[in-house]
Amino acid sequence: RRTTNHRIALIPGDGIGNEVIPAARRVLDAVAARHGLGFTYETFDWSCERYLSQGAMMPEDGLDRLRGHDAILLGAVGYPGVPDHVSLWGLLIPIRRGFQQYVNLRPIRVFEGVPSPLRGAGPGDVDLVVVRENVEGEYGEIGGRLGRGLPEEMAVQEAVFTRKGVTRVLDYAFSLAERRGGRLTSATKSNGIVHTMPFWDELVAERAAAHPEVAWDQEHIDALAAKFVLDPQRFDVVVASNLFGDILSDLAAAVAGSIGIAPAANLNPERDFPSMFEPVHGSAPDIAGRGIANPLGAIWSAAMLLDHLGHPEAATRVTDAIATVLAKTPVRTPDLGGTATTEDFTDALLELLRPHR
Ligand code: NAI
Ligand code: MG
Repeated sequence: RRTTNHRIALIPGDGIGNEVIPAARRVLDAVAARHGLGFTYETFDWSCERYLSQGAMMPEDGLDRLRGHDAILLGAVGYPGVPDHVSLWGLLIPIRRGFQQYVNLRPIRVFEGVPSPLRGAGPGDVDLVVVRENVEGEYGEIGGRLGRGLPEEMAVQEAVFTRKGVTRVLDYAFSLAERRGGRLTSATKSNGIVHTMPFWDELVAERAAAHPEVAWDQEHIDALAAKFVLDPQRFDVVVASNLFGDILSDLAAAVAGSIGIAPAANLNPERDFPSMFEPVHGSAPDIAGRGIANPLGAIWSAAMLLDHLGHPEAATRVTDAIATVLAKTPVRTPDLGGTATTEDFTDALLELLRPHR
């Protein structure tokens, strides 16, 4: 059987990033053996710790060093004493924007064996994906401050929505809805935000016309947040701007029961540049170094990487194994109420991925 080789850039980052990325790598290697895949890894020490010792999160030619890889797997960045905007704008945002990773994809499922904090959300009820616009919108760099320290001090920040930028993320979301249940919800706020959000709504209607098989609706973000809590099972694909998608996806991750489970993909769908896969959680300094971090978010992110590289069967094998471990075994890390270490949990998962099963 021919082996398909992929070059993967690993950026473990800070804190538990250094614990969950090795776990995800073990899982990738286990499915590789089974699916005729080969992975070559290059590990980068880019992190807040690097910032503290060398003055930058990554070297100046960082993007060039990543460019030749097929995908990036990132742990988390963040370190006590380093402001969060340094880690975000010094590493994550340059990669997302420089590599045109304009889709941020966050699937959410309630697994059997991981109770949701919501009474109404049982296993299998909730299976949705938030598609967040990832490079423009509310997180713009246009704006400024005037009159610092004066009584009339002011700050202005512009939200930037472009026809091209909105259209491409909508097309991605509608196509995803076609492949999944055929339902899409657009997050809006066109009653309050009178320029950008009506524009967003118009483009949604325009792209909906190009995807007639998808049943779609739109909800104002405030009402949508309430419905995510009251009735999460009604949603399938939810498409949102950068800010709305950021908030909704954390809310949805909480609905699923633990931040340690949630994965994310930053996709460049055209594949002109590598895409980046990362758990939603941060570096968790409160538990870092103890070997008890839940590796599931990183492992599920690795499954999304497999899917993106064109290996959906391998990806499904991993997500099925995750579901099985949670449903059929008591092995859990402390965030899910268990006593397993990161390694114990990964071992249990690898047991299910072994060829003899
Ligand atoms: P966090 O996600 O690191 O931790 C929040 C809580 O969840 C903590 O109690 C932590 O122990 C727990 N937790 C998170 N992931 C876990 C896992 N895999 N297993 C078990 N427990 C887990 O968020 P926090 O505390 O707000 O931020 C800590 C640092 O991480 C900050 O510097 C922040 O900027 C950074 N951060 C980085 C992100 C990234 O790299 N994409 C995302 C979010 C935060
Ligand atoms: Mg967030």
